[in-house]
Amino acid sequence: MANKSVWSDNRFWQRSAAWVTGFASVLLIWLTFDTSAQISMGNDADLQNGVTKRVPGPTVINYKITYEMSQKRGHEVPIIGGNDGKGMSLFQEKETFFGRDDWSEEEAAELLHLGKLGTQAKNCMNCHTLLGNGAYYAPDLTKAWLDPAWGPNGSMQAMTGKDTKEEAMAEFLQHPSQYPTHERMMPNLGITAEEAKGIVAFLKHMSSIDTNGFPRNFAKIQGAVHGK
Ligand code: HEC
Repeated sequence: MANKSVWSDNRFWQRSAAWVTGFASVLLIWLTFDTSAQISMGNDADLQNGVTKRVPGPTVINYKITYEMSQKRGHEVPIIGGNDGKGMSLFQEKETFFGRDDWSEEEAAELLHLGKLGTQAKNCMNCHTLLGNGAYYAPDLTKAWLDPAWGPNGSMQAMTGKDTKEEAMAEFLQHPSQYPTHERMMPNLGITAEEAKGIVAFLKHMSSIDTNGFPRNFAKIQGAVHGK
C-alpha cells in the first residue's frame, strides 16, 4: 500500500468534489446578488436626476432614445434624452409618445404592464427574440424600436402612412399581413389598438435597456430586414 498514487485515492476525489461544489455555490450566490442589483428597474426620479440605470424606469417612454457607439465599451449603448458628448445620457431631450411626453410613472407602468401581458398572451417569443429569449424565425425585437425603418424616413413608417414611429408600429402590429416586407409574413394576431399601444411602449422601454451590446451587430443588421 506504500506506493498508492494520489490519483487512485478516493478521499482525494471526495475532497476535491466538496471544494469545487463549495466554491461554485459561493460564486453563484455572489453573482445572483450582483446581477439583481444590476437589473433592478429605475424610476422617474432617476431619470429626472440624471442617474443612469441599466433598466430605466417606465417613464423613459417620454424621452428620445438613440443607439450610439461607445468607444470605451466597444459596442453600442442606448442614449436617453441626448448625448452629453462623452457617450453618456443627458436625460433632457423629450419625445412625444402617442402625443404626450408627460406620461406619469403610474400611467407609463400601466402601459408597460399591458404590453408585457400582450407579448406573453400572443407569444411573440415563438417567432422573435426578446432580451435573449425566444426564436430567430423573425427579427430580434430587443432593439426593434431603434430600427431606422420605423423612423421619420424609414420604409416601414412610409408604408403604414403614419406620422410617428409609435403609430407606425402600432398600425403594423394590428395588421401585419397588410405590410409584408419579408419573405416571411407576420400573421394577424388579433391585437387591439389599446394592446398595440402597450406593446409599442414595451418595445420602446426594452430598447432603452443597456444589454451590453446585445444583440451583436444590430447597427449592421438594422435596416437589412426592411431595406431601411
Ligand atoms: C408566427 C410568428 C410571429 C409571431 C407570433 C409574432 N411575429 Fe412579429 N414578425 C414575424 C415575422 C415573420 C416578421 C417579419 C415580417 C416582415 O418584415 O414583413 C415580424 C415582424 C415584426 C416586427 C417588425 C420587426 C422590425 O425589426 O422592424 C415587429 C415590431 C414585430 N414583428 C412584433 C411582434 C410582436 C410584438 C409580437 C407579439 C405580440 C409578434 N411580433 C409576434 C413573425 C411573428
